[in-house]
Amino acid sequence: MPSLAHLLERNRRWSRGIHAAKPDFFSRLTQQQTPKYLWIGCSDSRVPANEIVDLLPGELFVHRNVANIVVHTDLNCLSVLQYAVDVLRVEHVIVVGHYGCGGVRAARQGKPLGLIDNWLRHVQDVADRHASFLRSLPDEEAVVDRLCELNVIEQVQHVARTTIVQDAWRRGQKLALHAWVYGLSDGLVKDLRIESDSPAKFEADYVAAVADVAREG
Ligand code: CO
Repeated sequence: MPSLAHLLERNRRWSRGIHAAKPDFFSRLTQQQTPKYLWIGCSDSRVPANEIVDLLPGELFVHRNVANIVVHTDLNCLSVLQYAVDVLRVEHVIVVGHYGCGGVRAARQGKPLGLIDNWLRHVQDVADRHASFLRSLPDEEAVVDRLCELNVIEQVQHVARTTIVQDAWRRGQKLALHAWVYGLSDGLVKDLRIESDSPAKFEADYVAAVADVAREG
């Protein structure tokens, strides 16, 4: 018996359940996908994209990596973004961080973990950018929480600066960027109040969102 028999059994049960409720569900999905949203989130197993916003297959385009980082030269992330914006024509890109992120915590601690240290340098860059604010916080938990928020805001900035988003805005395509942080302890999303549909709106939203983090931290 294959060692993953229990997962395959769960899959059959899941498929049967959906089929029973909506007999044409899967056949409709084979025709096309028309998601309105691109989710860029953390790989953390506790942050499952579709479940958190209660969306079905076909409704959410997803890219996940450790600490929800958008790097200007990451061909994987950029390809997802380009396909989502240019081909699927999603109307919203949401970067979703989460409190208690192991990647953010590891970046803070600087304990050697291997190759991933190089990836987490990007979070350390965010921490460096906001070093004086982070130094003003009372304890390490507060630092990690605020850094989780700031990391999301900075990664949205990276999204905003891609040629993909800049070109979409220039040709008048409807596209808004958002920054969210998910709470592991209550299952709720905190909206960091970025809702940017142009370069100018993004610049204003970015400044306001960083100021909000500082005020509430
Ligand atoms: Co994480």
